[in-house]
Amino acid sequence: MNKSMNQERILSASFDKILNYIRENDDEQNVVNYHTPASLQQILMPKVDEEPTGEDEFLKMMDHYLEFAVKTGNKQFLNQLYSGFNLPAFIGDMLTTLTNTSMYTYEVAPAATIIEKEMIALMNSYAGYSDGDGIFLTGGSNGNLVAMFTARNRMLPESRFHGYDRTENLVAFINEQAHYSFETAANILGIGAKNVIKVKADHNGRMIPHELEKAIENAKNNRQTPFFVAATCATTLLGAYDPIDEIAEITQKHGLWLHADGAFGGSIILSDQHRYLMKGIEKTDSFVWNPHKLMNIPLVCSALLVKQKGVLQHNITDLNTDYIFHDMEEVEDLGKKSIQCGRHVDAVKLWFAWKYFGKKGYSQRIDNLIEMATYAENIVNQHPRLELMASRQSFSVCFRYQPENVVDLNEFNLAVRENIRKTGQSIVNYGYIGKDLTIRLVMANGELRKKDIDKFFQNFLGAAENLELQKVEEYEYEK
Ligand SMILES: Cc1ncc(COP(=O)(O)O)c(C=O)c1O
Repeated sequence: MNKSMNQERILSASFDKILNYIRENDDEQNVVNYHTPASLQQILMPKVDEEPTGEDEFLKMMDHYLEFAVKTGNKQFLNQLYSGFNLPAFIGDMLTTLTNTSMYTYEVAPAATIIEKEMIALMNSYAGYSDGDGIFLTGGSNGNLVAMFTARNRMLPESRFHGYDRTENLVAFINEQAHYSFETAANILGIGAKNVIKVKADHNGRMIPHELEKAIENAKNNRQTPFFVAATCATTLLGAYDPIDEIAEITQKHGLWLHADGAFGGSIILSDQHRYLMKGIEKTDSFVWNPHKLMNIPLVCSALLVKQKGVLQHNITDLNTDYIFHDMEEVEDLGKKSIQCGRHVDAVKLWFAWKYFGKKGYSQRIDNLIEMATYAENIVNQHPRLELMASRQSFSVCFRYQPENVVDLNEFNLAVRENIRKTGQSIVNYGYIGKDLTIRLVMANGELRKKDIDKFFQNFLGAAENLELQKVEEYEYEK
């Protein structure tokens, strides 16, 4: 106990600060108070001292942290696949921290266990897994890992005990634009990143089914053993949805595990209007869905759903754990199907938000994201200096600015992006399509409105036009 601090005073001051932060985190504020790393290091003075800190210093730490954290709840935070401030989920998360427990057993997490089971059942009902199961885990990357792990254990149950025999030559198949976590998963599982075969995508970024079939047949001819295919439901850059229905026909024919990586775009399943993009999801064996992205739940909130009950328990090798799992009640201990032991309560914040908005509310939030993306796409199409870099697939709009007299478009667009980030106006991410840099404007905050998109383009175009002018002046000067 730090004797120089009064718990109630500290708590009351921190609630005031939280309230102010939420109040002020409106769209008139900058999205970030940018400082260089060296200057931030100086301001924060992060080193921990021998002696306990005093109350004033402690309160200042809070102010500093809030001041220099990126305001991801601001509507000009358009950089990542998560964003937004979600009041009910925030409250759920706060209560979860307040009551600090672990998800492994019913006896220490009775309410949270019942809530997690309900959330998994609800998510399964959208996926069409009528006898499914699932578990919350630490993110989409880990969901992809556990899905691949489960598929490996179905194919080679003995590998759990004896290790994976490389002569089995297991190979997995993903969209060439899939998330990098699949290669990491193959690395961790001893299968090897090189044994993740990248299947060609079409010009919209969707996996081409006959290329998949060709790749599977090639692998078989090369004495490799296909075991796992991942269909991506919204690729990280372009937001493309792989055609699950057609892919499922192929995986069924070859007896392969079909996984859907909906870490980014899985939430589209909530929308009556747009769910068709995931047609065939009920034919998959597993499905990763991250409510911490498009449902705006605070990180981390991610679930791996599986079609068949029991497969997750089958992954766990040692249940000689009588010091923890006592089976005191009729409800199963969720720890028996998780590769984690201690596990954060992530379902409660989702439950608060889902109850608060209702199924209908969430459906509308997803529809709104697509509407905002369409609106942004139209702005790009209508502006003489903006170029759409790929046709819009879902929530992301990939574009760049084309100045009249500038040769290096990559350098130019990166400079514009950095300008609006460092001045705190807007944060937007970028990636590459081939060698061309593309700005990736992503709609993830369910509360975005047209005025927010207008403001983003004002900021971006303002910086681009200034930079173009500056380049022309430099050019004239050099002449
Ligand atoms: C398609 C896709 N899969 C997986 C992931 C990884 O999810 P997480 O960041 O929760 O690990 C992402 C993250 O952006 C993604 O876009």
